[in-house]
Amino acid sequence: MDNNFQDRFVKLVQTIQKMVLLVIMLLVLGIAGLYFISDTLDHPLPGTLNNETVVMDMEENQMQYGEDLIAHTAKYFGPDGTVRQNSNGMNCQNCHLDAGTKKFGNNYWKVATEYPRVRGRSGKMESVEMRINDCFRRSLNGDTIALESREMKAMVAYITSVASPEETGAGIFSVAMLDRPANPATGKIGYEKHCVVCHGAQGEGMRIKGANEYVYPPLWGSHSYNTAAGLYRLSRFAGYIKTNMPFGATAENPILSNEEAWDIAAYVNSQERPIKIFKEDWPDISKKPIDHPFGPFADNYSELQHKFGPFKPMLTNESN
Ligand code: HEC
Ligand code: HEC
Repeated sequence: MDNNFQDRFVKLVQTIQKMVLLVIMLLVLGIAGLYFISDTLDHPLPGTLNNETVVMDMEENQMQYGEDLIAHTAKYFGPDGTVRQNSNGMNCQNCHLDAGTKKFGNNYWKVATEYPRVRGRSGKMESVEMRINDCFRRSLNGDTIALESREMKAMVAYITSVASPEETGAGIFSVAMLDRPANPATGKIGYEKHCVVCHGAQGEGMRIKGANEYVYPPLWGSHSYNTAAGLYRLSRFAGYIKTNMPFGATAENPILSNEEAWDIAAYVNSQERPIKIFKEDWPDISKKPIDHPFGPFADNYSELQHKFGPFKPMLTNESN
């Protein structure tokens, strides 16, 4: 080896030493910088996450998933559903407006505080989960989902998050009862005036081709709620449409008169729809609501009167 080569070798070693030092200095500065930034960020960097933040993010995600399941149920559980195909293709939101947050829009304001409770229909203690499955079997004319599923937990988390038990306007509005039976023939005229443009002459609603959700949901026929559903009771249907339909109506600005609401309810609920009878319903028949249209009853009024009214005499004469 000549001197020249030795010189170059020493220089090379010195350069490598300097570079290693530089890298070490950069690393130290970098790490210090990261610590500084992570302290000033709202969302700390991975590795410095605390458990509380993780839990809050997970709850937020779960609630958002729950809201989406309620607003766009068909996407997950409709005939082309991505989770399971176990419903008629309607969304919970079709009936629980604004994802269950609209005043007298069949909202969920009182659900979290009122369940679990004993219900007359089942005669059993029911949790929110069981109540949701009731709507799957009846309003969505489908099948129940697992109580422990991710989807069920998300819907319950969302429903709990919208609780407003103190506010007036929970659930469905009670329309004053008529002194006469509700009249389906008059209701047909009202339907043609107020509803047919959106829900169709056959109550079939409207679905854009290829889309998995309804633009206007069906009111009767094979894709609608079944005869065991809440809306099949005239008081529920009349109350729901009085404050919400034609779409855009509100409790403050209703469009239908009380007569129109009852008569249109009578017309729609006289059309064909899926028939479902749950024999276990109303184990104590004295707990049946007066407008549940299937006997046996604790009184002597006919099925016809329990369907169309007049209901007032039944109220004053309950032990009849
Ligand atoms: C076809 C209309 C319709 C659809 C679709 C529907 N529901 Fe309902 N739901 C009702 C009616 C009617 C009631 C009874 C309200 C009453 O009697 O005050 C009800 C009641 C409820 C209740 C109890 C409310 C209370 O205050 O006691 C919950 C919870 C509920 N539904 C959840 C759901 C969920 C979740 C879905 C979708 C998986 C759904 N519903 C789909 C019509 C519907
Ligand atoms: C301008 C269009 C429009 C008109 C008119 C209209 N609706 Fe609706 N209706 C809707 C829409 C949209 C929904 C679903 C809302 C949602 O998913 O957010 C709905 C939902 C419903 C529902 C609950 C879901 C179902 O299919 O069972 C009922 C019941 C209903 N309408 C009855 C009526 C009646 C009765 C009338 C006439 C008095 C009427 N609607 C007039 C647009 C309309």
